[in-house]
Amino acid sequence: MINKNRADLIVGIQWGDEGKGKIVDSLAKDYDIVVRYQGGHNAGHTIVVDGKKYALHLIPSGVLNPKATNVIGNGVVISPEALIKEMKQFPDLNLKISDSAHMILEHHSLLDIAKEKLRGKNAIGTTGRGIGPAYSDKVARNGFRIGELEDIDSLEERLLQYLEQNSPIFKSLEIEIDKRTIREKLELYREKLLPYITNTTNYLWNEMDSGSRVLLEGAQGTLLDIDHGTYPFVTSSSTISAGASIGTGLSPKSIGNVIGIAKAYSTRVGNGPFPTEDFGDDGEKLRQQGHEFGTTTGRSRRCGWFDAVAVKHASRLNGCDSLSLMKLDVLDGFEKIKVCVAYKLDEKEISYLPTNLDEVKPVYIEFDGWEQSEGVREFDKLPENAQKYINELEKLIETPISLISTSPDREDTIQR
Ligand code: IMP
Repeated sequence: MINKNRADLIVGIQWGDEGKGKIVDSLAKDYDIVVRYQGGHNAGHTIVVDGKKYALHLIPSGVLNPKATNVIGNGVVISPEALIKEMKQFPDLNLKISDSAHMILEHHSLLDIAKEKLRGKNAIGTTGRGIGPAYSDKVARNGFRIGELEDIDSLEERLLQYLEQNSPIFKSLEIEIDKRTIREKLELYREKLLPYITNTTNYLWNEMDSGSRVLLEGAQGTLLDIDHGTYPFVTSSSTISAGASIGTGLSPKSIGNVIGIAKAYSTRVGNGPFPTEDFGDDGEKLRQQGHEFGTTTGRSRRCGWFDAVAVKHASRLNGCDSLSLMKLDVLDGFEKIKVCVAYKLDEKEISYLPTNLDEVKPVYIEFDGWEQSEGVREFDKLPENAQKYINELEKLIETPISLISTSPDREDTIQR
């Protein structure tokens, strides 16, 4: 599946937390370079290598392959504080940071939290990491690029000017920034990060020209995309495959295989429409069996059934060549398993994703459950009902399911 001269791409095709980490971890060994292209430290997964736990939020999962170079592309928003903390886990880190990536500074996270409070019952349920305010500043052309750390005097001057200009807003939101510590902080960021900062677009072009294999690692999921997700209950970046071009400088023509990652059911963190959410015992069982609690904020995830309408839509948006179906084992022991195959909107049945997703009711078909799929590594050895479930999903989403994960263990994977 590896393309030379083309970068392969992993993308979440639900609401994030699909288990992309496990797939990227296991693929990373086959690539020379692994690249993050959007989002920030709102993403997160924990990985275990040789019994040691590592928390990844910003550093690409290629960090597990000592030979791979990890790239944080221009489309990512970087909290220097969070990145420095994360880097401490990896003493021999092979990392390149795009000089054009924007920084998340202290005021961004404070603004994120304060604005969420103001939204009251319309809160988005953000991670509070400052993602929205940092991307807003970028688009408003007020942002701070990490490459500016090279000239700390002008960066400090610009930051102080920005804080001054925005002081009425900060005051009204009761946000206080200690200006006396700014210089010290910027110096620390410069000392720790400057050696890694470079023009990653040129680096990637040169590497691809000489045949290096590149894997692009998406964060969050398609339905959280700023344009194509369930706006306004979305994150502030382009989470779909097209975002990888913008967030790296690789043209759409340099993207090879697109692998969509979906769970065998659905989850969502934060607020916003979720047609197949189950508020009863089944939802609770999915949460417990799937350990559905956020790695970044610890929040419990909303759980429900597989939404084939949404996944088919997401697969098309991303141009998925294949799909990896994660956490099949979480469905073990359910008597009946539901799948949403259409929506009811104003008494009419529709089979597409409307913009007013909060007004639809799911139309389900039901499958007989199975006892155990956990740990199975061959498709033919799966319980017959699990095989039926996967074969049917494949037809519904019109995308081949080429990989099935049956436990968190890297080896418990079925290739088809
Ligand atoms: P933000 O990205 O912190 O602004 O949050 C916006 C929305 O995206 C909220 O609903 C978050 O819960 C959700 N979100 C952000 N990052 C992730 C992630 O990595 N996994 C799942 N949901 C996420």
